[in-house]
Formats: sequence, structure tokens, C-alpha cells
Amino acid sequence: MGRKLLLDKIHIPGIQSYDVYRANGGYTAVEKALKNFSPDQIVEEVKKSGLRGRGGAGFPTGMKWSFLAKPPGVPRYLLCNADESEPGTFKDRYLMEHIPHLLIEGMIISSYALGANTSYIYIRGEYFYVSRILEKAIAEAYANGWLGKNILGTDYSLDLYVQVGAGAYICGEETALIESLEGKRGNPRIKPPFPAVAGLWGCPTVVNNVETISAVVPIIQMGGEEYAKIGIGKSTGTKLISASGHINKPGVYEIELGLPVEEFIYSDEYCGGIRGGKKLKAVVAGGSSVPILPAELILKTAKGEPRLMSYESLADGGFQTGTMLGSGGFIAMDEDTSIIENLYTFSRFYHHESCGQCSPCREGTGWMEKILKKFLDGTATMSDIDLLWDIQSKIDGRTICPLGDAASWPVASAIRHFRHEFEEAVRNKGVKKVNHYNKRWGVNETV
Ligand SMILES: Cc1cc2nc3c(=O)[nH]c(=O)nc-3n(C[C@H](O)[C@H](O)[C@H](O)COP(=O)(O)O)c2cc1C
Repeated sequence: MGRKLLLDKIHIPGIQSYDVYRANGGYTAVEKALKNFSPDQIVEEVKKSGLRGRGGAGFPTGMKWSFLAKPPGVPRYLLCNADESEPGTFKDRYLMEHIPHLLIEGMIISSYALGANTSYIYIRGEYFYVSRILEKAIAEAYANGWLGKNILGTDYSLDLYVQVGAGAYICGEETALIESLEGKRGNPRIKPPFPAVAGLWGCPTVVNNVETISAVVPIIQMGGEEYAKIGIGKSTGTKLISASGHINKPGVYEIELGLPVEEFIYSDEYCGGIRGGKKLKAVVAGGSSVPILPAELILKTAKGEPRLMSYESLADGGFQTGTMLGSGGFIAMDEDTSIIENLYTFSRFYHHESCGQCSPCREGTGWMEKILKKFLDGTATMSDIDLLWDIQSKIDGRTICPLGDAASWPVASAIRHFRHEFEEAVRNKGVKKVNHYNKRWGVNETV
């Protein structure tokens, strides 16, 4: 059994409430942090832990915190990114819904480390019911002296607010999130300046994912060095994986980084194998934005080594034969899956969610969606494969924020690894074995 640091208490009845959370060791990390550590010492512990951002990019959290500008007399902010809109990713919801005080505890310690006296949890509009759970938990934390003025009799004070977004994927991009929090349309900002220098209201700001901030609690409890012993290489600690698709046991799993992908898919402790005993065809390992890999490349690297659930192993081979851990949205597809149909669903999403600021993304995402539909309904020609390749290559790296990259990588990887399916779709005048989603998208059925 892998170690659990975030989900270890999740099955305790009533753990959502303050009383049960506290009775099971809750808020002891805050006590330890505020009584035994200076803010800089906490930043050091987080650096020692090797924790990397769990929102997708995997940037080292301690390093990010140490970049925060500290001009005298200027407030600093910690923003928790609870926007979680990446298709295939649902782990932050699970944490906030089932053990909301863990995030609040992490917010208090992290805000203290950064010298922030006002912090926000920005949560996607579709998680409105989760925002109510958080608000209740925050009220309990205030009532018990963990938030507000002079926490634990120290001179540290913190106010924590929940801000509900209006349901836009782009608002998960950190500068768009800041714009939205300021009451504006969620358009990403050109960087620099980075939020660490000029973020919310022009003040130094750190944006971190829900899971990243929650992981600070076990790091303070066990110490950064102990945390760093879990995992493999520069992929330390545990990671929540949202597992979905054609597996026997979809759900949210906490794994020790370094777990072999094969074990994750086939062992009963995790996904329990492919549904109906079918063969695995492909996997999207880190949420819809990362390159899709065929079964042979997700189970083993191009060098023939077992592929591990770690930042480095999943990226082994670059985009030619590798992918990314991303936000941990693991979507497994069986032998009956149409890669094109799956890609069409993703492309439709990115087109819908593009903010429209950058023309390659605004125009290119729509163009890709239209071309993919042609493959589904049987009107595509062979030259459309090259056109699709060309369009994605002209979005990648040419936009203010990485939504453009996120839209192009799945397309590029699908053509790279499954070009024969595009060719078959042209020859067969459509895609065979399309599933029920096509009815929803209004695509002709060609089963
Ligand atoms: C289009 C887009 C959507 C994103 N959505 C999220 C999100 O929902 N949650 C998240 O934590 N990070 C998201 N990110 C990444 C954030 O910009 C940022 O890197 C992250 O919140 C940093 O937190 P971390 O260092 O703890 O991972 C998104 C990025 C892009 C480009």
C-alpha cells in the first residue's frame, strides 16, 4: 500500500466538520508552524521537501515562494487556484468536498510563510456547492480562532475569502484568475511582470493549486526532508490522480510518485485494469492538455524502461515519445475508442474556452474543431491531415498564455501516434465505432 498524506483521513466519518477534523490531529500543523517556525523557515521546509506545483506545470513551490517581492508597506497575497476546469481532472474537488479543513490549514501556514494577511480561494462557478462547504469550514475556523486577528495569540492575522468564478477554464490561468478576482474579464496578462512582483491589485502575489497548498500540511507535520524521501528523484511526495475512462475503478487516487504506470492501471489498489477485459489503446496521462500516448509508450519509454508516474519519467522522450504528468488527470482509453472522436471533444472544449485575445488561439482552435468534424462525418481529405498539423504548429508557443499550447499538443500527438486513424477516416468516409457523444455533438453516426 502506498503512503497517503492527503487522503489518509478522508474515510473518517464526519471529517468534513471542524470538530472531527480537530479531534483527528487537525490544525496541529498550524500550531507547529506559528509557534516553532519563522515564515522564512517554512519556506525553507517547503524547499527541502522538493514539492512541485500540482496545478500542472510542476514548478518547485519553495522556489516560487522565495521569488515573492517584499517591498515594505505593500500587502502580499496568496491565491488558491481552485478553478479546476481541465477535462479529466477532478482531484481538487474531491479534497475540498471531503476534507475542506485540510486546505484551510494549508492556506493559513502558506499565507503565514508568505506574509499575506488576506488570502483568497478562487473556485470555479460549477463547484458552487463546494464553495458552500468551504465557506462553512472557514466560518468554523474563524469561530475557533484559526483565522482572524492574532491567531494563537501571535501577532499574525489572516482573513480568508472564497471567490466563485463564472465557469471559464481560462480563469484557471493564474493571471486571468487575478484579473477575474479584480472584477474584470478573465484575460491572461502579458508576463513579465510576474505575479510574484505585480499580481493582485498590482501587489506581490503567489498563486498555488489546491493540492499544492494542502500538501504543505503534511510537510510541516513530518518535515521537508522526510517528505522528500517519498517519491523518486525530483518527483517527491505523493500526488493525487483523477483516474477516468475505460478502467474498472475510476476515482481519485493518492499515489507515491514513482509508481509504475502499469501498476497504476492494472493493480486492484488503483484502477483495477481495463473494463470488460479489453485492451488498453491509449492514455492521456495528465489532463486533456498533455500529449496522448499509445499503450506501448505509456507502459514503457522508447528506451524500453518501465514508465513511472513521475514528472521526469512521463516526460522521457520529449513530445516525440513522452508526455507530461500535468495536473494528474489520467484518462485511459480501450481498444474501441476513436482517437479522432476523443480529440474532437477536446478541441471543441478549447475552442469554446479560448478567451479570444490571441488570434492564433482564437482562430486556430475553431479551425481545428471544424477540420476534426470533417474526419468524423466523412468529408475530410488526406490533405486535411497536413492542414491540421500545420494549424496546431502555428498555435503552439505563439500565444500570451499556454491555452494555445494546451489546444495544440493533443492534436499534434494524435497525428504523430495515430496518423493511420486519420487516413482510415478519409478512406472509410468517416469514423467507425463512434460513441454516443456524437449524437450530442450532432455528428453523423457511421457505425
Ligand atoms: C488555460 C489554463 C488553465 C489552468 N487551470 C488551472 C486550474 O484550474 N488549476 C490550477 O491549479 N492551475 C491551473 N493552471 C495553471 C496556473 O496558471 C498556475 O500555473 C497554477 O495555479 C500554479 O499553481 P501550482 O504552482 O501550485 O501548480 C492553468 C493554466 C492554464 C494555461
